[in-house]
Amino acid sequence: MLVNPPVEALGVGKCYTIYQRPADRLKQAVIPRLRRALGLAPRAYYHPFWALTDVSLQVERGQCLGVLGRNGSGKSTLLQILAGTLSPTTGQVRASGRVTAILELGAGFNPMFTGRENLQLTASIMGLSRRELEQRYEDIVAFADIGDFMEQPVWTYSSGMYVRLAFAVSACVEPEVFIVDEALAVGDVRFQAKCFRRLDDLLAKGCAVILVTHDPEQVTRHCTRALVLDGGEALMQGAPREAVNRYLDLMLGAEPEEPDVSPTSAPAASVCEALELRAGYNPEEYRWGNGQAEVLDVCLSSGSTGHSVNLEAGRPLRVEVWVRHHQAQPRPIYGLQIKTPDGVMVYADNSRDFSGGPLMRPAAAGEVVRAVFEMEQRLAQGDYLVSVGVSAEEQGEAVPLDRRYDALHLKIMGTRPRTYGLVDLSMQVRLEDYDTPPDDDD
Ligand SMILES: Nc1ncnc2c1ncn2[C@@H]1O[C@H](COP(=O)(O)OP(=O)(O)OP(=O)(O)O)[C@@H](O)[C@H]1O
Ligand SMILES: [Mg+2]
Repeated sequence: MLVNPPVEALGVGKCYTIYQRPADRLKQAVIPRLRRALGLAPRAYYHPFWALTDVSLQVERGQCLGVLGRNGSGKSTLLQILAGTLSPTTGQVRASGRVTAILELGAGFNPMFTGRENLQLTASIMGLSRRELEQRYEDIVAFADIGDFMEQPVWTYSSGMYVRLAFAVSACVEPEVFIVDEALAVGDVRFQAKCFRRLDDLLAKGCAVILVTHDPEQVTRHCTRALVLDGGEALMQGAPREAVNRYLDLMLGAEPEEPDVSPTSAPAASVCEALELRAGYNPEEYRWGNGQAEVLDVCLSSGSTGHSVNLEAGRPLRVEVWVRHHQAQPRPIYGLQIKTPDGVMVYADNSRDFSGGPLMRPAAAGEVVRAVFEMEQRLAQGDYLVSVGVSAEEQGEAVPLDRRYDALHLKIMGTRPRTYGLVDLSMQVRLEDYDTPPDDDD
């Protein structure tokens, strides 16, 4: 027997009416009626704005759909429609069973009521009997773990506390459909981990989950499918890893990569373009130097494909740097640095000091040199910034010619559950029997 999925949407669209001036809202309320009454042609004082167009989806029992997209792409609009708090302009939504939703902050609780009163209210709206609530009360309070704040009005809560209570209530009422809009982003790391354990429990019990997040890692780890929205349209729906790559391409400005159809094809010959046009280029880079040379372009790859700023953990990293020398340099040095976004240096080396060096080759005026850095790559999954530069050695000192700090964003994609820290040292673990030594007295 075919069972309907717990939640599905068919051709859903949402059109908002935008008024340029507050007065237009009043005009729209009054004038069209007058014009109709007078037999004049209709006139509108608003612009229609489609926040969502023609989105269809299904989420089966035990499946988690991740929704990714840039700010304003329509994620919250879609989730509100699925949760039933917003009506669609076109299409239909069907959700069966108990639907709980943690929508964007501010929705849900009455700020004047205490946490406990809100809990009771929400539980009764969810259809929980007094007895059922009594049975689960301790569980919910323990999960939220906000102590005496349960007896305080919700307006006194921090955003983290608010989400703790909202998640605890929503997850503990055993929903058939659970909708979460970015709520987990405000919780601390330990609470997030606890929420994801609870989400996994709900999925195992057959709940259908829809999760909006800006964290690609959460999608690859917890979702069975993912949807990428852009400008209100479904750009793609598919396997989490593919969706994450498409989302990162959107964020980093790359065109989708053409699949490499020929298995024997050699590594794509990279060509010098303009660094400013590369995917992952950081317009906030910090650039300085005396201008005697110029870093034209930087290409990141794992050796087998063209420029890519999304690299799988453990794949070797190849960085090509094109430098034009405007002036002859007897001893130029080409260097590279990798940092975390908050500025912690992870690695730095250059053509003079590397283990196989020094590699000193004079450059003529007008010459373009390509420095190729190839390295093993043991970075832990996460975001990094790559800096490159060229200097000239003068009396043992390195004089900066062109340094481009934090010029490219590099994303290391995890292939296994999270590692902690900045490097993945691929730890192996073994447990051995240990014979307790006999007591001295024996
Ligand atoms: N009530 C409204 N009236 C008019 N426009 C709206 C309204 N609510 C949302 N929008 C517009 O609809 C578009 C989609 O908004 P939505 O909140 O769904 O985006 P989002 O993907 O959730 O963004 P974010 O990542 O910032 O949360 C935006 O351009 C937004 O300005
Ligand atoms: Mg939103």
